[in-house]
Amino acid sequence: MSDQDLQNIVFPSLKDRVVIITGAGQGIGRVFAKAFGLAGARVVIAERNEEKAASVSAEVMQAGGQALAITTDVSDEASIKQMVELATGEYGGIDVLINNAGIFSTLEMRPFDQIPVAEWEQVLKVNLTGPFLCARAVLPAMRKAKWGRIINIASGAVRLGRPNYLHYIATKSALMGMSLSMARELGPDNITVNAILPGATFTEIERKTVTPEQKVRIVASQSIPRPSVPQDLVGAALFLASEASSFVTGQSLNLDGGVTGS
Ligand SMILES: NC(=O)c1ccc[n+]([C@@H]2O[C@H](COP(=O)([O-])OP(=O)(O)OC[C@H]3O[C@@H](n4cnc5c(N)ncnc54)[C@H](O)[C@@H]3O)[C@@H](O)[C@H]2O)c1
Repeated sequence: MSDQDLQNIVFPSLKDRVVIITGAGQGIGRVFAKAFGLAGARVVIAERNEEKAASVSAEVMQAGGQALAITTDVSDEASIKQMVELATGEYGGIDVLINNAGIFSTLEMRPFDQIPVAEWEQVLKVNLTGPFLCARAVLPAMRKAKWGRIINIASGAVRLGRPNYLHYIATKSALMGMSLSMARELGPDNITVNAILPGATFTEIERKTVTPEQKVRIVASQSIPRPSVPQDLVGAALFLASEASSFVTGQSLNLDGGVTGS
């Protein structure tokens, strides 16, 4: 290992790395976009909601970062293909994919025997097929560069088996297995694949999945007993996207303030 290699690990740079963040129009993805922008990356905001994508892109640029908003539906292969073409056309390659888009804050909580089949299928399509399709779409660029990082945003809820959103839990659980198996296939190409498992993370978006009483219980169950915010996830995302994590792959990292062990 050269001194330069060691330098890249000690001071990993994301400068000009092309980072696609799906679903970055609000919540966790929005904070990721701003963080990667601050780190000097070229951020692609691949979000279904055009207005929100544009607004986050403007926020990143106002803070001095580089960003490109591309209206994208991760459940639509043609839309993903177009997004990847636009991103590579603008920036010349793709280094990092963060599969963050998901049907989450809009989910209705209900016992699994009351989940309409169409809703079950839609959640699978966005939360599971979406990351699969996005990973496939960025692969040629990452293989060409012999470098890549894929980060799947799963959920700490899968470790706890939380009730009343079984479709969601099923997809997030599958993302862990997908990350490990994809890591095995892509290791020889110097592409790492990891999952982040956030605990309950409170964003600017109100949601129905956590009642105020549940929030109190969740916070009390953490080793660090305060509500988690998206900023709590940023350090791990930057690390997994950087050169410093080059030997870390197939892992599922709990970022829940210490609710669960490994
Ligand atoms: N906030 C939490 O407590 C928490 C905990 C664990 C995991 N997560 C996961 O983290 C991710 C982000 O969470 P959040 O709280 O910001 O969620 P959110 O619901 O606030 O935001 C999701 C974003 O994804 C976008 N999106 C939805 N469907 C899309 C599609 N088909 N194509 C492109 N974009 C689409 C939405 O427009 C929205 O901007 C999700 O995958 C979620 O499951 C969140």
